[in-house]
Amino acid sequence: MAVINENFSKLPGSYLFSTIAKKVASYKESNPDADIIRLGIGDVTKPLVPAVTNALHLAVDEMGKEETFRGYAPDLGYSFLREAIAENDFRMRGCDISSDEIFVSDGAKSDSADIQELFGLDARIAVCDPVYPVYLDSNVMAGRCGEYDKESGKWDRVIYMPCIEDNGFVPSLPKEEADIIYLCFPNNPTGMALKKEELQVFVDHANKTGAVIIFDAAYEAYITQEGVPHSIYECDGAKTCAIELRSFSKNAGFTGLRLGYSVVPKELNRMGNSLHDMWARRHGTKFNGAPYIVQRAGEAVYSKEGKDQIKEQIKGYKENAKVIREGLKNAGYTVYGGVDSPYIWLKTPGMSSWDFFDMMLDKMNIVGTPGGGFGPSGEGYFRLTAFGSHENCLKAMERVAKNS
Ligand code: MLT
Repeated sequence: MAVINENFSKLPGSYLFSTIAKKVASYKESNPDADIIRLGIGDVTKPLVPAVTNALHLAVDEMGKEETFRGYAPDLGYSFLREAIAENDFRMRGCDISSDEIFVSDGAKSDSADIQELFGLDARIAVCDPVYPVYLDSNVMAGRCGEYDKESGKWDRVIYMPCIEDNGFVPSLPKEEADIIYLCFPNNPTGMALKKEELQVFVDHANKTGAVIIFDAAYEAYITQEGVPHSIYECDGAKTCAIELRSFSKNAGFTGLRLGYSVVPKELNRMGNSLHDMWARRHGTKFNGAPYIVQRAGEAVYSKEGKDQIKEQIKGYKENAKVIREGLKNAGYTVYGGVDSPYIWLKTPGMSSWDFFDMMLDKMNIVGTPGGGFGPSGEGYFRLTAFGSHENCLKAMERVAKNS
């Protein structure tokens, strides 16, 4: 009989967003006429911009002709895309990242789940609390998190870095020695950002202790305030301690198209091994590259028209964030985030986050995400996303106002 990976059975419940989708589907079944506004999962609603769809059409035509047809993509990504990324996302911001340190993938979710394969099973991870569940769940599946305590909602081998009202949602350094430190800033789910000097503290710590930071910068396009770093490589010394993950989902609307990338600098070594070479080896073995047409679409994101069109799109989502922030504040809620991020993090008024979820769904037909689903310190909070249509965000806030 096959011996299975029993770590899977340690996972409490199903993946957060699957649980929510099931709850909403069951509500819809009992209330077929309900006009549900979905501000739960961070999924975009605006269509791909013309620069991107034009690039897709052209690439599809190329694939239909013998002279221009392409088979397997290079497993680390086409150089036209890796060059555009290195130039636009890094060198233009003063970060010394070269195209061969970029690894193109099918999205940041897979990268953030897979990156843990580079580390030993006895490595200890530190995560923010609340946290994007993929970092934790993928480490649980690998067997790195120990046992789950239902009472506290914590894993006994995980080091938690609370991001709460008292510390302005800025994590302190891990209290115990961590080997891998996951950071996502601007943060999912709190929507709060770190200043460069706050991130520098983590970089200095990692260089001192030998830890590796996994920096998820999926929401960098939403940064509004000065002094908030778009990349961890804006910090001194980050190339010897940090891996950065990026997504095309939230900035360019690729949630359904799938494209992302990771940056593993060549200077990043541990125990005499190059993490860059290890990640390249892993990509080569387990990945056949993102589709050519999608990589051409990704390249178009960095064209002049692409940049202009995407800027407008992000402006629209930022306006939504403002509508939600103001709407909630006017209705008397305590609200965080939504300035450098598409996520708005509100305090639930005297009820648990799942009770608040049920109340919002039942009374207002609004779907959000219960803070408790992101970890124990998320309890008492609720996340709304600005990725809905503008009309729906306005409508949702009218409902909130009526029910407050
Ligand atoms: C979220 O809602 O937290 C994200 O959309 C999930 C994801 O990007 O995978």
